[in-house]
Amino acid sequence: MADFFESVYAADPPGGSRIERAGWDIGGPQPVLVELERAGAISGEVLDVGCGTGDNALYLAGLGYQVLGLDAAPSAIAHAKAKAERTHMPVGFAVADARSMAGYEHRFDTVLDSGLLHTFGGSDRRRYIRALRSVGKLGAVVHVLAVSDAAPPGPGPRRLAQQDLRSAFGAGWVIETLRRGEMLGALPGHPHGVIPAWLLTARLRAGAGA
Ligand SMILES: C[S@@+](CC[C@H](N)C(=O)[O-])C[C@H]1O[C@@H](n2cnc3c(N)ncnc32)[C@H](O)[C@@H]1O
Repeated sequence: MADFFESVYAADPPGGSRIERAGWDIGGPQPVLVELERAGAISGEVLDVGCGTGDNALYLAGLGYQVLGLDAAPSAIAHAKAKAERTHMPVGFAVADARSMAGYEHRFDTVLDSGLLHTFGGSDRRRYIRALRSVGKLGAVVHVLAVSDAAPPGPGPRRLAQQDLRSAFGAGWVIETLRRGEMLGALPGHPHGVIPAWLLTARLRAGAGA
């Protein structure tokens, strides 16, 4: 899966605003993130995990948040760094595998996952959730935007059921909200538009950090 993402990002040189072949790359922040921020749901040091070309991280940095974006695809990080340079935005970007994130322990107050969780199944998902626990400070909040089972079936990201999210954020987490919402983008074979999604907000329970 990591190779798939890397090949999509590597097909375009850094410097553009949007990667045509990447249905998830909309050239700006996801509207749901804008809503979350306006509602006061983002605080402290922020991790944008699976940040892609960095638009969500750059949006928050532009509002004054201290943000780090991590992605496993080196070409995604090259695109993100080029955008940060072009816009003079003080935001860090680095290559890392979200299933481990060694070196970032107990650091973040808010974690944003826009389109990453639904790329993981089985043991990869469990490793990822463990890694999320390790990077959050006590009481940290994780916001997840993931394609839902209300989306048309077909290739592309997993379509998650409500129970998938409830099981993923079980022991060690308190699910504060789990609601149907929307993400902007394009599923394979569909034009750009609104994709049915879940928005989950979960809080790391005291004493649950790895
Ligand atoms: C659907 S894209 C979403 C990108 C970005 N968050 C956005 O909203 O535009 C999923 C991202 O997760 C990254 N990714 C996939 N597996 C990963 C892993 N194991 N560790 C870190 N990032 C990963 C991909 O490279 C890709 O950039």
